[in-house]
Amino acid sequence: MPASTPRRSGSLRNPPSIDVLRLERFESRLRDGTPVVVRPVEPGDKALLLAGFERLSPQSRYARFMAPVVQLSDGQLRYLTEIDYVDHFAWAALRADRQGEGIGVARYVRLATTPTVAEAAITVLDDYQGRGLGTLLLALLAVAARAAGIRAFRAFVLEENAPMRELLEALGAVAAHDSPGVLRLDVPLDPELLPASPAARVLRAVAEKVVSLTGPPPHWIGPGGEDPGASGRRS
Ligand SMILES: CC(C)(COP(=O)(O)OP(=O)(O)OC[C@H]1O[C@@H](n2cnc3c(N)ncnc32)[C@H](O)[C@@H]1OP(=O)(O)O)[C@@H](O)C(=O)NCCC(=O)NCCS
Repeated sequence: MPASTPRRSGSLRNPPSIDVLRLERFESRLRDGTPVVVRPVEPGDKALLLAGFERLSPQSRYARFMAPVVQLSDGQLRYLTEIDYVDHFAWAALRADRQGEGIGVARYVRLATTPTVAEAAITVLDDYQGRGLGTLLLALLAVAARAAGIRAFRAFVLEENAPMRELLEALGAVAAHDSPGVLRLDVPLDPELLPASPAARVLRAVAEKVVSLTGPPPHWIGPGGEDPGASGRRS
């Protein structure tokens, strides 16, 4: 089921403080040099999200929602923007050089039945696909999820969705048949299980930057393989 579908989230017995998850803005450049800023989604992002959805091709909408969604309802917009940052977290990616142009979203929703697992979904506007933004957003989502005690992502992906499959498989996802035409991909977020892929290197680099901004998320791993939680805050 796509991560946009309202449902009751699970929760951990000792959820991390929300302050841990109020991650700062993260600035980067896409592979072609486009400057982007990534920050947590806020309740005031409804118009931004709607504008992005309207620019998304029917193919990308179908790949994301697994249904021919033509518009987002007020209820869906509330669900997608009014999040608790612990059981439901989302990053928004914007052009850093153009006011108010949203170009991608990454979201996880903790499973009610298995609180250490969250369903993850990523959307990048068609014009910006293939430039590394999906990889960056997945890395940031993994860092936020780890800080919230999530140990694995689950994603439901159309069999023909090669970009999303490759994105997840680059982080060690295991695929299983879910329903006709749909795969279930499970991605362990244990740093020790990360493969030696370029996407895993992006994840480690991102974790290092976010750690330096916010303090060490629990049990995350630095670029040299060390646990920053063990050696204290980086500057
Ligand atoms: C899936 C999606 C998020 C990927 O985002 P992206 O910004 O294009 O991803 P990246 O540029 O970081 O590419 C990630 C990997 O996907 C693969 N990929 C990207 N574009 C591809 C394409 N057109 N064909 C095949 N593989 C492709 C590559 O393996 C790539 O890694 P590489 O650049 O190291 O070769 C994006 O295509 C999208 O939003 N699609 C529509 C919505 C969707 O399907 N969401 C997932 C549902 S859960």
